[in-house]
Amino acid sequence: MTTQEIIALENKYILQTYIRPPIVLERGSGVYLYDTDGKRYLDFVSGLSVNAFGYGDAEILKTIQEQASKLIHVSNLYHTIPAPQLAQLLVEHSFADRAFFCNSGTESWEAALKFCRKWGHETYPSKPKYKFIALHDSFHGRTTGSIATTGQPKYHKGFTPLLPGVDFATLNDLDSVKALVTDETCAILVEPVQAEGGVYPCTKEFLSGLRKLCDEKGMLLVFDEIQCGLGRTGTLFCYQQYGVEPDLMTLAKPLAGGLPIGVCLLRQKVADCIHPGDHAATFGANAVTCATAIQVFSRLANPDFLAGVRTRSEHLFGRLRGLQQKHPDKIKEVRGRGLIVGIVTTWKAGDIVTAFRDRNVLACTAGPDVVRFLPPLIIEDRHIDEAVETFDDILTKGLPEEKK
Ligand SMILES: Cc1ncc(COP(=O)(O)O)c(C=O)c1O
Repeated sequence: MTTQEIIALENKYILQTYIRPPIVLERGSGVYLYDTDGKRYLDFVSGLSVNAFGYGDAEILKTIQEQASKLIHVSNLYHTIPAPQLAQLLVEHSFADRAFFCNSGTESWEAALKFCRKWGHETYPSKPKYKFIALHDSFHGRTTGSIATTGQPKYHKGFTPLLPGVDFATLNDLDSVKALVTDETCAILVEPVQAEGGVYPCTKEFLSGLRKLCDEKGMLLVFDEIQCGLGRTGTLFCYQQYGVEPDLMTLAKPLAGGLPIGVCLLRQKVADCIHPGDHAATFGANAVTCATAIQVFSRLANPDFLAGVRTRSEHLFGRLRGLQQKHPDKIKEVRGRGLIVGIVTTWKAGDIVTAFRDRNVLACTAGPDVVRFLPPLIIEDRHIDEAVETFDDILTKGLPEEKK
């Protein structure tokens, strides 16, 4: 089939929920992707923060093959070997006492919302706590509970009425959160680095203020580290840079090397309120997924690997700040942490992403004026130089006149 025929097939048969560029990706190797016309792209998207080790990683492939030849799936009616081993790893490396496995980010967020409410009912039986405080510009996924707690009205449009009991405060404005707390609030929901919303890191004062507030008022603190967790910001979990621990945390994207996984980690006091039958997922804790996640997590947790991410991050930020100095009229800000970076531009971010693709580099957006870089964590300085020099070329030569 030709590239055009594949795209025509997609247009005819797949529900049109995405706007895709007119290329078809066929294979990947290291930090590069190749399309059906043989064109090579430097990947600064990583399947949206998923492919930490790039493409064709030999250890990931070996693990998938070995586990798939033994056992793929039996459901959660039975014990299997990889799931408890993965849970042990996650718990021993984090604040948590327990793990719940599912299949995607949004599903882990739904689990977190349910667990918070169950805790609110069991801990305060005479007057259950059930309300959430979420943040403007947040993003927690596309299922109904997730959109209800996502602070971006564009994701609510056409899907109301939403899950009741959600109020929105402002990132890094502790007073705006305090003003919303009532004796019915069960949890405060936060991405330590707001990702889709524009790459906005929380301040240390804000997260420690939230922790104190939750402890004082008997509420849970929930971190969504689906995009910013698991090495992306240069530490295994983003919260470790803040010295603030949550009561629940969701993880997903890179954990199983590109296979679908979601995890909700929780403290024992919350786990004590969840009983058999309260929640489930047929594919959750799938044997191949969990075996692969053990492999991936063990490598992500390696301090030398994480130090390498921080070094590469410094190089990327250094180069981007240099670019900002060269083009102050076009780059307004460079922000983020580790290898999640938002570059705020005076041009439309979508047009810059197209210009990147025309020059064989894949980038994505985080809002109308933010170009987002999410390279594989194994990126090397020479790849960073290539992407930044491509950016320089775009800004120097300009976009086609009608797009500026
Ligand atoms: C912070 C955050 N939470 C939740 C999600 C939803 O994850 P998924 O697309 O796997 O459902 C995303 C996806 O981008 C995310 O970035």
